[in-house]
Amino acid sequence: MSAALLAGPPAAGALLDEARTRAAQLPRRPELHVIRLGEDPASVSYVALKEKKALEVGLGGVVHALPETTTQAELLTLIERLNADPAVSGLLVQLPLPTGIDSSRVLNAVSPDKDVDGFHPVNVGRLWTGAPALPPCTPAGVIRLLDFYGVPLSGQRAVIVGRSNIVGKPLAALLLARDATVTIAHSRTRELAALTRQADVLIAAAGRPHFITPEMVRPGAVVVDVGISRVGTSAAGRARLAGDVHPDVAQVADALTPVPGGVGPMTVAQLMLNTVLAAERLQAGEVPQELADVPLP
Ligand code: GUN
Repeated sequence: MSAALLAGPPAAGALLDEARTRAAQLPRRPELHVIRLGEDPASVSYVALKEKKALEVGLGGVVHALPETTTQAELLTLIERLNADPAVSGLLVQLPLPTGIDSSRVLNAVSPDKDVDGFHPVNVGRLWTGAPALPPCTPAGVIRLLDFYGVPLSGQRAVIVGRSNIVGKPLAALLLARDATVTIAHSRTRELAALTRQADVLIAAAGRPHFITPEMVRPGAVVVDVGISRVGTSAAGRARLAGDVHPDVAQVADALTPVPGGVGPMTVAQLMLNTVLAAERLQAGEVPQELADVPLP
């Protein structure tokens, strides 16, 4: 028996439709602003995709393409200006940044209420405490994908392989909020296969091609593959991509997300929804929480 494929595009389409519908109900068109430094080809193409999707769902999409030589001070000045601009709903700085720029200093400068990447420590705290947060796009996209295909989470054992700040840790918070029983495994975990075999929902986010083999999967499990690694070039000159899950896992699992075409499309779709969520909150005139919490002098 081969696993059912949980394809990303239909689920991403539903997410984009939701973003489009909600954006159309706002008094002002939400705008996504993306800052990119330098001409790293991967960053150029990711940012172009974000801009294209924004326009597709009726958002404004503005790319601030700055030279590689931009200083940290110049970058911080631009972020401050965009933080203060009421037309800007969502703001993200594409990573990686050139050497010499302190990425965490830069990411922390983005207003948490416009932080559509969900990387700001205020949003991390909101996520873990159950306050309204802008969730990181890939983990939130994984939850949306599982919901779209009707995969139950409440009471289920979820095992995440990978403890990154971008995927593993925030995904644990989101699964916990959905009443799953969550374990995070990582490179130092002992008897990993025994642990992963307990998973009803197994999430591979280790960044190691074909790391999850059939022996590590309980028959009937749902397997989500967040990994995407370049493993060579095809005869036609295209990048050959591999997920973290070995293809033979399809013989054991009940359902499996493909790579490419699984989680990937969900990430950019969730970014659009996050931009709309940010716009809804900002345009409702809510006092940003971090300001509301500061005692007046
Ligand atoms: N570079 C690669 N992925 C991402 C992402 O999700 N957000 C940002 N800001 N940069 C990235």
